Amino acid sequence: MAFPRRLALRISRGLQFPDAIARSNEHVPGSRQVRLVAGRAVPRNSCPVKHDFRYNPFKWRDDSRSNHACSSVQKWAWPRLRSNEDFVKAQIAMPTHTKEEDRADMKLRAARRALELVEPGMTLGLGSGTTATLWIKLLGEQVRDHGLQIRAIATSEDSEHLGRSYGIPFVNFEECPSLDLTIDGADEIAPRLALIKGGGGKLLREKIVASASKRFVVIADESKQVEKLGRFPLPVEVIQMAAPLVSGSLRELGFTPTIRVNPDGTRYITDEGNLILDCSGLSIENPAEIAAKLDSTVGIVEHGLFLGMATLALIASDQRVIERSV
Ligand code: 5RP
Repeated sequence: MAFPRRLALRISRGLQFPDAIARSNEHVPGSRQVRLVAGRAVPRNSCPVKHDFRYNPFKWRDDSRSNHACSSVQKWAWPRLRSNEDFVKAQIAMPTHTKEEDRADMKLRAARRALELVEPGMTLGLGSGTTATLWIKLLGEQVRDHGLQIRAIATSEDSEHLGRSYGIPFVNFEECPSLDLTIDGADEIAPRLALIKGGGGKLLREKIVASASKRFVVIADESKQVEKLGRFPLPVEVIQMAAPLVSGSLRELGFTPTIRVNPDGTRYITDEGNLILDCSGLSIENPAEIAAKLDSTVGIVEHGLFLGMATLALIASDQRVIERSV
């Protein structure tokens, strides 16, 4: 049986097989499933152990010691596959998809590349989200440890808080109406650098900051690239009282809007006190047309279509960071 490409790659790079197994995080549709029990791969249903690696990919535990699926036992159990049969069973369930850990590496590489665009004296826009957070930390280290002189405006309270923890000085648009460079993440990146943003709910400030920037650069891992926008639900920020009316208008456009909620079930409220409607179900053939309709809908404060704003995207894959420009 042929090895999945990614696994074969890891082995050829000299990483140990258990490491490759432990990094798997998704079930391959249609494949047989295996569990790793006490470090050994066994077929699903053949053992009464409650753990299934699909549910907790990065917290490998020794199933012989922990006894419920929500256990916080942090023991990492490197699987010891005893036979070739175990190996085959395990690799049947190996995904060839990008893994979360790989994605985190890619995000970091994109963030590192973006740091190269920063020059002393610049005023910078700091984005939001996991990728932007990595970049802010790298930037913060330069400020804190190497005395890099920059000033910044953040796209969210979280990003500002993080930046301040490194000693990054912040300004506002009265003090500094134009930014030299903004670095931010994206949820989808389509041809001509048309973007969906707002997965983290910060789209309003993100758009304000991007629009005030001479250069708006997107950083992302390769999973964010799409041919057409719309697989990621489009976030639309709305005035609370207008949400039912705006939802109706969005449905007429073909979207299925859902009010965003927090993990505890309460409504997600943006930094500006508004609601977010996550709009799914529509493949966006003509982003400019949809953006124009959203722009003219009363009650919508802002939407996550960022068109004609980014001039460069730094997209990290397994091997390298590619530059895409318009
Ligand atoms: C937040 C955003 C983020 O930039 C976007 O969601 C990407 O996030 P991540 O880097 O975590 O994938 O738009 O509103």
